[in-house]
Amino acid sequence: MTAPLIDPFARAIEYLRVSVTDRCDFRCVYCMSENMTFLPKKELLTLEELDRMCSAFIRLGVQKLRITGGEPLVRRDIMTFFRAMSRHLDSGALRELTLTTNGSQLEKFADDLFAAGVRRINVSLDTLDDDKFARITRWGRLPQVLRGIDAAQKAGLRVKINTVALQGFNEDELFTLTDWCAARDMDLTFIEVMPMGDLGNEDRLGQYWSLKDLRAELATRSALTDLPDNTGGPARYLRMESTGQKIGLITPLTHNFCESCNRVRITCTGEIYTCLGQEGHSDLRGPLRASEADAELEEAIRAAIALKPKGHDFDYSRQKIDGQVSRHMSHTGG
Ligand code: GTP
Ligand code: 5AD
Ligand code: SF4
Repeated sequence: MTAPLIDPFARAIEYLRVSVTDRCDFRCVYCMSENMTFLPKKELLTLEELDRMCSAFIRLGVQKLRITGGEPLVRRDIMTFFRAMSRHLDSGALRELTLTTNGSQLEKFADDLFAAGVRRINVSLDTLDDDKFARITRWGRLPQVLRGIDAAQKAGLRVKINTVALQGFNEDELFTLTDWCAARDMDLTFIEVMPMGDLGNEDRLGQYWSLKDLRAELATRSALTDLPDNTGGPARYLRMESTGQKIGLITPLTHNFCESCNRVRITCTGEIYTCLGQEGHSDLRGPLRASEADAELEEAIRAAIALKPKGHDFDYSRQKIDGQVSRHMSHTGG
């Protein structure tokens, strides 16, 4: 039997996040700069190569596969890839096939995703106000995303909303968002904004809203109960007793969750990043293309996992939060 992927800190790697494109139809201010240069298409792994890459990881013990981007649903023919991956669900090798999306294309793809075995998706949404939505995404249209969320729920997909907590932007919508999600039976996860990318004129420090403070705000409205359950992702969950709904908190800055890290990321050009908050990465495209047999690729995967760092270095001191990892979040798909 193949030995599972275990990193130097005895963490089993069971969760693979694969970015299938660096492109996106939005430009969220904390994720991309306004004038992004995108990769030439020939740099991308083909769908067949993505299949070989993911299948190798699944052979090595990955049980949860999340497709990311950029925006994964803008990649041409992406449903072919989802359908191909569903064979690993059918065989029982993969426990979950899922994606993180901005929702803009869900109206078109929700039924196909369900048919390919996807059951649960995460949709990024930071505000329920049309104008604010257009501002944070630089030009996105909220109604299109809301129609996408409707279509996803109608197709039978369980939807979790991801909201980046931003001071001076969505603090005033905290309970509008929780109530909206509760009414639609959707879980909601808040994320602390991370100091990544070329910040341009963005005042990341000014935008940072600690989830300790957000949690205290939630507690003014409802008793909160910490929940033991876990999706295998980085969020810690609690229940708001007033509504019974589940709220996730992703706290890279106030409460590091690296010791239980179970994941690695592949970029759309076949680099592996073993930590979101570090610059270190290795090339897997070379070994993938070097041979039709996968032995070399598997060896390169193991070598990369052997270099996985203990955790990220995002600074906890608010004075030094800016510009700590220079690549944009879209490069590694969050
Ligand atoms: P679930 O399966 O629902 O638990 O999803 P998930 O939280 O694993 O995936 P999602 O794509 O929704 O991730 C939400 C965000 O959490 C990402 O976009 C990142 O911003 C952040 N995140 C995920 N994993 C890590 C991690 O390992 N380190 C850090 N610092 N942030 C992470
Ligand atoms: N900090 C925290 N979360 C971010 N995301 C993108 N950029 C950042 C950042 N700098 C989130 C998006 C989405 C997911 C893909 O990553 O909101 O939910
Ligand atoms: Fe696109 Fe998501 Fe990045 Fe926004 S956060 S620009 S929707 S990839």
